[in-house]
Amino acid sequence: MIKRVFIIIVSVLVLGIAGGLLYRHLTKEPVPEYIFTYAENQSENFPTSMGAYYFADLVKERTNGRIRIMVYTNGGLGREADIIKQMKYGGVDFARLSLSQLAEVEPELNILQMPYIYNDANHMWRVLDGEVGDMFLDKMTKQDLVGLSWYDAGARSFYVTDGPIQSPEDMKGMKIRVQQSELMMDMIECLGATAVPLSYEEVYSALELGEIDGAENNWPSYEDTGHYKVAGFYTLDEHTRVPEMQLASENTWNMLSEEDREIIRCCAEESAVYERGLWHEREQSSRDRCIESGVTVTEISASEKEAFRNAMAPVYEKYCKDDMELLEIIRKMG
Ligand code: GCU
Repeated sequence: MIKRVFIIIVSVLVLGIAGGLLYRHLTKEPVPEYIFTYAENQSENFPTSMGAYYFADLVKERTNGRIRIMVYTNGGLGREADIIKQMKYGGVDFARLSLSQLAEVEPELNILQMPYIYNDANHMWRVLDGEVGDMFLDKMTKQDLVGLSWYDAGARSFYVTDGPIQSPEDMKGMKIRVQQSELMMDMIECLGATAVPLSYEEVYSALELGEIDGAENNWPSYEDTGHYKVAGFYTLDEHTRVPEMQLASENTWNMLSEEDREIIRCCAEESAVYERGLWHEREQSSRDRCIESGVTVTEISASEKEAFRNAMAPVYEKYCKDDMELLEIIRKMG
């Protein structure tokens, strides 16, 4: 019996070493110590996906191939809400997720995505790149997650199949898809429309089949998903800026040395800078492509924007009444 156990142990060791040597020989690369997964629900060439690949490459380079991160795009590891659950238990190691989905598990985050809270992109970046942004990255540990960096996702506007929308009145009675988020549902109800929460992957067919009248998103998502082909009226109301967070599962994080954590944090921050540059270019090219394809873009005046902003006031009452101090700090950074 002892002899048999001894033979098994020796065989496993020999096979392990041989496997490692073979891998090294075939790939000419060192055998990784860790292979991690990274979830991304956008397509391969989308700015956030390219940011993820950049992050994975940097980590590989700076750990001399000891840590490999396999990026799964197109929602290959699941929908955003499911990814959050999987990360809590270490089933997925890293991800880039929309803040609106994270706010469902950590409602304090809602303040960062309130309608019309930022005057423009610079205002949002002053908030996220400063103490407030860091505080919210740190808060993710309450959910067994580690917030690493902020990615850009521009401004979201409404688009419909029959339009255009020029004022909140035009939205009365419409069925508008929103992310699976209580805040986003409330926002739509304030405009007199019916909110239809669907996951990102379900929106195209719902628009095509006429199950919804419209949705809302940033230019790159509107273009990349092809929604512009089935809902050709885009109104530049820019009601929200919903940033994205790059995260690690705390389970995964706890396996790593202090030194590796520091490397990963730096790579995440550098990848965010890279993604923000790509985002800026893509916003323009997506917009151009949609317009060339015949999308009707409706610009709205300052007074019409004010009407949208005023209609959404009740969500401030519901979501910010206990956070008035922080709301004031964020507003003053504008
Ligand atoms: C953005 C975001 C996605 C999200 C999507 C949505 O495109 O990048 O992560 O899923 O909005 O509207 O659901």
